[in-house]
Amino acid sequence: MDVSKRRILLKVIVLGDSGVGKTSLMNQYVHKKFNQQYKATIGADFVTKELHIDDKLVTLQIWDTAGQERFQSLGSAFYRGADCCVLVFDVNTLKTFNTLNHWRKEFLKQADAFDPNTFPFVLIGNKIDKEGGRSRVVCERKAREWCATMGNIPYFETSAKEDYNVDDAFLGAAKSALASE
Ligand code: GTP
Ligand code: MG
Repeated sequence: MDVSKRRILLKVIVLGDSGVGKTSLMNQYVHKKFNQQYKATIGADFVTKELHIDDKLVTLQIWDTAGQERFQSLGSAFYRGADCCVLVFDVNTLKTFNTLNHWRKEFLKQADAFDPNTFPFVLIGNKIDKEGGRSRVVCERKAREWCATMGNIPYFETSAKEDYNVDDAFLGAAKSALASE
């Protein structure tokens, strides 16, 4: 290993409605695995992944959280100290897109962000594979418009199932966090 590389730990929180695919995205990213079966996340837990970005050795500490309110047993105290927040919705379910404002606000309330207006968020529109795109209800333009109104949040369309764009989305999160250091 190149010992001259700067080591950096980045804390990333993944939020969004139940069933949008938060756990699946993380499993695909870290373990290269996908499970068709839904198993609700209870509480919150993290995984880590090491990345080389320019001259830096970055450890991403990615927190998976429960979308279902009754399983949010840890509350949101662990949002504190986050370097980036990844918001996830399902492009096939309008409700999961409409709740993004709620998730963003809840996050900012708890995270104790230095400046809420410039805190790095990344948006993921997941499950673009579903029914070959025929069940899609939130188009890319609509998602990008929301990102623009929130201060030009980077946007990634992904499929955790087919491992499409998942690496790029988490790399985008890491880069956003680094840029605002
Ligand atoms: P909570 O833990 O309840 O907050 O849900 P979650 O956001 O972690 O969702 P999870 O990853 O458990 O995925 C929910 C369901 O969607 C599972 O049955 C997954 O197999 C499925 N799923 C996740 N990602 C994709 C995807 O990209 N495409 C398709 N077709 N299905 C997906
Ligand atoms: Mg989950």
